[in-house]
Amino acid sequence: MPREALARIGRALAGLVLASVLGGAADKPAPLDVGHWRQAFARPNHAPTPAENSATPEKIALGAKLFEDTRLSGSGDMACSSCHQADLSFSDGIDRHVGHDGQPLDRRTPPLWNLAWGLSFFWDGRASSLEDQAMGPIENEREMAGNLQTALRALDSDPQMRKAFAFAFPDDPAVTQANLAKALAAFQRTLVSPETRFDRWVKGDDKALEPDELAGFSLFVGKAGCVACHQGWRFTDEAFHDIGLPSEDKGRGPILGVSAANHAFKTPSLRERVWSAPYMHDGSLATFDDVVAHYAEHVVERPTLSADLPRRIELDNEERAQLVAFLDTLSSDDPPRPASLPTKAMSWGATAEAVPASTVSQKDKRFTPGTIILKLGEALRIVNDDTRVHNVRLDGPGKSFNSDAQNPGDTVTIGFDSPGHYDVICGIHPDMRLSVDVAQAR
Ligand code: HEC
Ligand code: HEC
Repeated sequence: MPREALARIGRALAGLVLASVLGGAADKPAPLDVGHWRQAFARPNHAPTPAENSATPEKIALGAKLFEDTRLSGSGDMACSSCHQADLSFSDGIDRHVGHDGQPLDRRTPPLWNLAWGLSFFWDGRASSLEDQAMGPIENEREMAGNLQTALRALDSDPQMRKAFAFAFPDDPAVTQANLAKALAAFQRTLVSPETRFDRWVKGDDKALEPDELAGFSLFVGKAGCVACHQGWRFTDEAFHDIGLPSEDKGRGPILGVSAANHAFKTPSLRERVWSAPYMHDGSLATFDDVVAHYAEHVVERPTLSADLPRRIELDNEERAQLVAFLDTLSSDDPPRPASLPTKAMSWGATAEAVPASTVSQKDKRFTPGTIILKLGEALRIVNDDTRVHNVRLDGPGKSFNSDAQNPGDTVTIGFDSPGHYDVICGIHPDMRLSVDVAQAR
């Protein structure tokens, strides 16, 4: 055998040995910690509802009617339900709906399940409540192209509608923009996705999932790294990530004015997604197979890629099929109907006891401590000891602050001129909340 060929075999063998030394331990999947994951994905018993818009049956019934009402659109031929169709997970089955000008809209119609738990709305999170969100499509030139005042007048001239508004809002019985928004929001909060086979497994039924589906779940929470962002029973961290799709859309960046958040979109829930293809903000991926292939081999390298996105995922064909089989278990076999859950007034406020502190950590996407008391004149230092880019923001009465991109290792300092209560959040990870009480120094 020629020396060159021998050397080649030698190198190949050395490579194999090295690969098995390096890869060996890492490739063997850790056994699934069933107890831990069953707890992490358990469904809640209540749906949250804001104190200022309690869920009454009359309000929900009015919202359901308005959702179907074409008088909300300028042309009188389009309702919310024209795009958000119940049988398609309140989506529309196409990549991008055609707008009033005949051109496709910029983004895909998202499904509307489980938004009662949402922290921000739209793909880029530009609305902070469902009440705020509702006026968007009505006045949007390209979506419903409506005029709110015209729509309100049309509803007000309908005696049935006036009655329905009066029942829904006994303290303020009028057809107003605020009441319209509240009714639509209250109805949408009832769209809770029903239990699926996966939930039966979570509740302890070992037989509810087939072996390949369970293998797919192990990959999802294991080497495929999906659970870094698709977490909790809704399968979303409510945060914004660039996952390397080729789209030019800048997403969250322009909303925050922070270029480090360019191409980042809100992590979608994965519930009932069998009914809502195609996928992603631009509807560019037709099937779950395409989605898995994206994560495994088509991620566009960019400086803005999320720190939570594994840089390399090796998935063979069998593993890809297992992941897809698992994703299917999060959807119903027939077009799902909303589950009904009792509601509970939500409180985003601090639950922990406030502690005196002037330095706060951001490790693991959490402000620690999360509830602090600061003396007036003392500066607040927020240290990014996390692996992710954050964007510290304070939008309070009398004070606003925006750190821009706060890279790992950066510390931001905020001073306060007057005593009071301040809420600090991260614009990229809105579930990070820090409550600050600035007390008069004695
Ligand atoms: C022409 C199609 C169309 C109509 C009509 C429409 N929407 Fe939408 N909806 C969309 C699109 C597209 C988006 C995503 C836009 C974006 O993220 O920039 C969206 C986003 C939403 C969201 C945000 C969901 C999330 O996950 O953040 C909600 C809630 C919503 N719409 C409710 C409504 C309501 C209520 C109405 C009626 C008042 C309505 N929509 C009418 C297409 C439509
Ligand atoms: C870094 C966070 C992150 C990780 C890790 C991640 N995802 Fe996603 N996922 C997202 C975001 C953000 C989107 C929406 C992106 C967009 O539209 O631009 C998304 C979209 C999806 C969608 C489409 C949902 C829809 O309704 O359009 C599916 C399905 C999905 N991911 C499955 C997975 C699977 C399977 C894995 C593991 C292989 C995974 N994701 C890993 C953040 C993540």
